[in-house]
Amino acid sequence: MSNDGAAGQRNNNEKSRPSALPNHEENGSRKKPEFEIREMGVDDIAAVFHLGEQVFTADKTPTLYRTWDEFEVISMFNEDTEYCLVAETEGQIVGFAMGNVVTKKKSAWKYGYLVWLVVAPEFQRLGVASRLFHKFEDKMIEAGVRIFMIDTEADNLPALHFFRARGFGSPQQHIYMTYNPVATEQQKEKKRSLKGKKSGSNHKRVG
Ligand SMILES: CC(C)(COP(=O)(O)OP(=O)(O)OC[C@H]1O[C@@H](n2cnc3c(N)ncnc32)[C@H](O)[C@@H]1OP(=O)(O)O)[C@@H](O)C(=O)NCCC(=O)NCCS
Repeated sequence: MSNDGAAGQRNNNEKSRPSALPNHEENGSRKKPEFEIREMGVDDIAAVFHLGEQVFTADKTPTLYRTWDEFEVISMFNEDTEYCLVAETEGQIVGFAMGNVVTKKKSAWKYGYLVWLVVAPEFQRLGVASRLFHKFEDKMIEAGVRIFMIDTEADNLPALHFFRARGFGSPQQHIYMTYNPVATEQQKEKKRSLKGKKSGSNHKRVG
């Protein structure tokens, strides 16, 4: 989800680690903190960016087709403010959801595309994403959306479990390919020279 030099490559755990860690009960189980789910404001942009940076590291999300960088947050906030939501506890942003409404030519249907859904690792499995998704869903339905879409890596099991539990299904396979013109030309050149050597040796006279 990030390319060379983009901020998404850096694993900036220290900067983005929330200080309001979930409390633990005496029996060791986690006590659910109170979360507020609200629309994202301009002052949340930096926190959202750093939280995404913590989660979308190059090793976890090695595909390049979607890039996590500050421009992604700013442009989604700018274009689809009402579909940018945050989860907050004790003044800390611990999760966010961002998406948009997709319309197609010659179709009356509106699609709700949830582009990013993230919960800080320390606050996962506490229902934060569920609450973010519910609010996102309500807003989208209000806007006339009939079908929701998401995309994620095929091996992102937490996300797949999460979305299946929310009713998502019919996964479609999609292959991403890359092409490097310089490397391809070098390979072709190598093949040509090997072929040349071979055909040269075939014509060698014996004796
Ligand atoms: C996917 C993600 C958003 C889920 O957030 P979350 O706040 O932990 O989710 P919830 O607590 O609301 O989970 C609701 C249900 O989803 C399923 N689920 C969530 N995380 C799961 C996991 N790691 N393993 C198995 N099931 C999981 C469970 O059914 C869970 O219910 P339960 O806790 O009662 O069993 C979170 O793991 C995350 O931020 N991942 C990294 C970013 C990402 O991949 N985003 C999706 C693509 S943009």
